[in-house]
Amino acid sequence: MCQSVETLRTSLDLTYVWDYREDGGVRELYARAKGAQWDGVRDLPWELSVDPEGDAFPDMSVPIWGSELWDRLSVKERRHVKHEATAWTISQFLHGEQGALLAASQLVEAAGTMDAKMYAATQAVDEARHVEVYERYLREKMQRSWPVADPLKSLLDQVLVDRRWDMKYLGMQIMVEGLALAAFGLMRATTEEPLLRALTTLVMRDEARHVAFGAISLRDVYRDMSEGELREREDFVVEASRLMRDRFLGTEVWASLGLPVAECTKYTLQSPVMSQFRVLLFSRIVPNLKRLGLLTPRVRPSLETIGVLEFEHLDPDADPGELLGALAPAA
Ligand SMILES: [Fe+2]
Ligand SMILES: [Fe+2]
Repeated sequence: MCQSVETLRTSLDLTYVWDYREDGGVRELYARAKGAQWDGVRDLPWELSVDPEGDAFPDMSVPIWGSELWDRLSVKERRHVKHEATAWTISQFLHGEQGALLAASQLVEAAGTMDAKMYAATQAVDEARHVEVYERYLREKMQRSWPVADPLKSLLDQVLVDRRWDMKYLGMQIMVEGLALAAFGLMRATTEEPLLRALTTLVMRDEARHVAFGAISLRDVYRDMSEGELREREDFVVEASRLMRDRFLGTEVWASLGLPVAECTKYTLQSPVMSQFRVLLFSRIVPNLKRLGLLTPRVRPSLETIGVLEFEHLDPDADPGELLGALAPAA
């Protein structure tokens, strides 16, 4: 069992901003954020009952679906594995939301314009709401939750302890939230559970705004950066991409269920459906990296290796649901 409170030492530069003038696009995003607030209690159909082992959650979302191992399991065992795998995925959403809440509060401190601070404050409220609804869903409906996975934790740690303001935006708003937006889209596209679909739809609306905030805030930052500083950002993008591509595998689920971890992991990495899922997770990140001028010759080969460079031509502002609807693998 992990400790309930963990403390990290950070050294963020806090800024006062004495120039209160409007900052173009960010003020508009701030206005949109205020108008789009929703209530996690009032606006979701919590009265619906959910069967966490039921058919509303598709078997194909289980990483070992289609394997010989899966075929050997009884119907009852498959349902149990699906329950645990779904709870694991939603638990990682929850922990990622906490990371986003902490990062948004850091942006309030570190942002260099008042509009960005005000916008980041709305994002902190959004992220608090996301923590609220995912935690409630896990507790009431899944009745099961999992600790944060090591690769996700190390990525969050890296972003949260970094003192450079642009790394908060790049790490959290572009990489982690970009991945989350795609993951939520896949969840919404594949589950038929109405409460989770409604919840995910509302969360995605907020997340699309957060990614846009990151993209606006970093506009032109990397085009004028010195070679040495840019190299550090490139290295971060490459490392974070590798981490997100092949490390969020949920191996702890297999161990806890008494299933052969090596076999499950090998299958998960080879499964065509899972490979396609992992590639789709980059559908929002890659076009945004391109927009920021970060698809540099040092970054491109590693994105090519993990098979996600094809997304560079997508519209980074496209509706995530439509985008994934067009790209999602056939069941
Ligand atoms: Fe969020
Ligand atoms: Fe967010």
